[in-house]
Amino acid sequence: MKEQIDKLYRNTFLTKEEYIDLLSKLTQTGQQGQRDYLYQKARTVREKYYQKKVYTRGLIEFSNYCKNNCYYCGIRAENQNVERYRLTPEEILACADEGYHLGFRTVVLQSGEDFFYDTKQIGNLVAAIKKQHADTAVTLSLGEREKPVYQYWYDCGADRYLLRHETATKTHYQKLHPSGLSFEHRIQCLLDLKEIGYQVGAGFMVGSPFQTLEHLAAELLFLKKLEPHMVGIGPFIAQKDSPFAAYPNGTLDQTLVLLALIRLTLPKVLLPATTALGTIDPQGREKGILAGANVVMPNLSPAAVRKKYQLYDNKICTGEESAQCRGCLETRIRSVGYELVTERGDYVDLAVCTKRGE
Ligand code: 5AD
Ligand code: FES
Repeated sequence: MKEQIDKLYRNTFLTKEEYIDLLSKLTQTGQQGQRDYLYQKARTVREKYYQKKVYTRGLIEFSNYCKNNCYYCGIRAENQNVERYRLTPEEILACADEGYHLGFRTVVLQSGEDFFYDTKQIGNLVAAIKKQHADTAVTLSLGEREKPVYQYWYDCGADRYLLRHETATKTHYQKLHPSGLSFEHRIQCLLDLKEIGYQVGAGFMVGSPFQTLEHLAAELLFLKKLEPHMVGIGPFIAQKDSPFAAYPNGTLDQTLVLLALIRLTLPKVLLPATTALGTIDPQGREKGILAGANVVMPNLSPAAVRKKYQLYDNKICTGEESAQCRGCLETRIRSVGYELVTERGDYVDLAVCTKRGE
């Protein structure tokens, strides 16, 4: 197994069969020694490009309205047990401002697929944040739109876009989503975003219902081909009101193995240790950093609305204020030998990879 890890470390590519073989060995319970070897290789690679730095993104979850009905998600349209909310543009700008003063140089505007704010209003919000804080990167995470809309927001100053593809296998996609949602359209969105010049984040859930090792191998091959700047992954966590309420959660070990394999496959990628990872294990995010992750994304939303944005059960940090989370994370990251920094945290080869390289 070490040979395959070394091979990936050297040339960042394995065949599908090799990935499946490696995944099946690494996810067996008795293989902690091999997993530790993998994590150590992943750390070597991340430190080559990003040293001991951990970048922060301040997440503003500004609306939990959503028109979709993804089977896994807690804020799906049909869930009647969600108290819906929308922040006003003034509230959103106040969160961004607070984030700036706490040391965030990236804000992520995230919501369900909510068309209440029209294209222009979102554009105005992006422009207002950039005007207020020129050294801040603005990331959007608003779901699937058409290319001219993405282009408009880019022209308003948006730097990055997060859109997890959720799974790279069409038949699996169809088991996670109702028929109105199209796998092809989602992938097309990622291609459009890249072409426009955004730094793009793709991603998927680990241990989602019906996922096999072959699917996970397909994820790694898909990512290698797409070459996104960021990859967001976290364990699937069952949400009690969703159609997938009774399915088992993804595991810590499987998620850590995937983080490390992604780091070796895409050495320069921006890779968050996600809130979902921190939810399935009290030290999940720290362990994620030690498996090759280099980003954390704490919440900047007002504490009053945080409990209402629950994509999955038992989400952490819903009672804390933004400043508390920042402080808490600083301590946690330092405890494993890394350092939370106040920087935009762009992809290392930005100038080579995007049209708006700096
Ligand atoms: N468990 C874990 N992650 C989830 N997401 C949505 N629902 C869940 C869940 N039940 C993830 C999806 C989505 C991102 C915002 O959150 O991958 O893209
Ligand atoms: Fe939010 Fe620790 S990061 S309380």
